[in-house]
Amino acid sequence: DDGPLVDSFGRVHRDLRISLTDKCNLRCTYCMPAEGVPLAPRDTLLASDEIVTVARIAVEAGIDEIRLTGGEPLLRPDIVDLVERLAALEGPGGRPELSMTTNAVRLAQLAKPLRDAGLARLNVSLDTLSPSRFATMTRRDRLDDVMAGLDAARAAGFAPIKINTVLLRGVNDDEAPALLDWALAEGHQLRFIEQMPLDGGHVWNRAEMVTAAETLALLRRTHSLDALPGRGAAPAELYEVDGGPGRVGIIASVTMPFCGACDRLRLTSDGQLRSCLFARGETDVRSVLRSAGTDADVRARIRACLAGKQPGHGIDEPGFLQPPRPMSAIGG
Ligand code: GTP
Ligand code: 5AD
Ligand code: SF4
Repeated sequence: DDGPLVDSFGRVHRDLRISLTDKCNLRCTYCMPAEGVPLAPRDTLLASDEIVTVARIAVEAGIDEIRLTGGEPLLRPDIVDLVERLAALEGPGGRPELSMTTNAVRLAQLAKPLRDAGLARLNVSLDTLSPSRFATMTRRDRLDDVMAGLDAARAAGFAPIKINTVLLRGVNDDEAPALLDWALAEGHQLRFIEQMPLDGGHVWNRAEMVTAAETLALLRRTHSLDALPGRGAAPAELYEVDGGPGRVGIIASVTMPFCGACDRLRLTSDGQLRSCLFARGETDVRSVLRSAGTDADVRARIRACLAGKQPGHGIDEPGFLQPPRPMSAIGG
């Protein structure tokens, strides 16, 4: 079981996305219903030692990027310690690059300790600059905390911070140009993400989704955009804004899928490996960890998971079914 982490379509996997919890302190309408979603039973959640074990074995097998997600990863009480342990792992190519996707609500206090612990990059979800819209879209009145979190993150040395924005028709789509101007002024890199059919409340509707083409047309009313080459396996297609140096990203997961270059493997907070956001099946690694499995046993699970990876998400295929687990449990 040597050699790169390759699937049956020849895609080499270098990126491990770890969901640290399925809990969240916001309730974004495109992600969860107001009442939330059922949480995994407590005893199924991986302990930090178990997460570090899987990550170590993955890094030794060739993973060189680790992204921490949730739910909301900053709700994990030992997050700073966990970041320190993950940043210290070593594989054939050296230490993994460690990044996090967060809503930034708790970032004001944590940005500096996370930076010191070895976190290299931060992506922050933010859909509006209006406090009342923020409260409507997330069902929590926390925009001030997010803004304080972003300021603290920049002060701690994270740059550029990537901002993830999901546009919802008739809710915040009119704000796209203002969000871009704000991000450029703040030195953040804004990315617009097409809404995907992954929400716990099953509100996704293809016809209602704001497409990447629409977003580009909207932005081009006020800015010139030139596509930049060389995106590699990244979900975001980057555009230079008004001749640069500012940039904006478009993540067209639905209308222009990027599965052909996918290098991502996922670990859920309850210890299931997923080969794709939209995979119908999962590979259990928790039971291996809890039955005195060896490193080779864990490696075998990782390879088994990748062996079942499909060529694409299949959203446009007849009979497509949203995965049984919502985004908040998979980690985005
Ligand atoms: P970097 O490019 O490393 O900064 O991170 P990223 O853009 O991959 O991560 P982030 O967590 O910020 O994700 C941004 C959006 O892209 C989210 O909506 C993710 O769900 C989506 N995304 C990330 N990876 C994938 C993927 O493998 N497939 C699809 N369809 N969407 C993805
Ligand atoms: N479609 C697309 N992106 C989503 N996110 C959450 N739910 C969805 C969805 N249904 C985004 C969040 C976060 C990232 C991890 O995924 O805004 O930035
Ligand atoms: Fe990879 Fe699945 Fe995302 Fe496509 S939808 S890029 S295969 S995780």
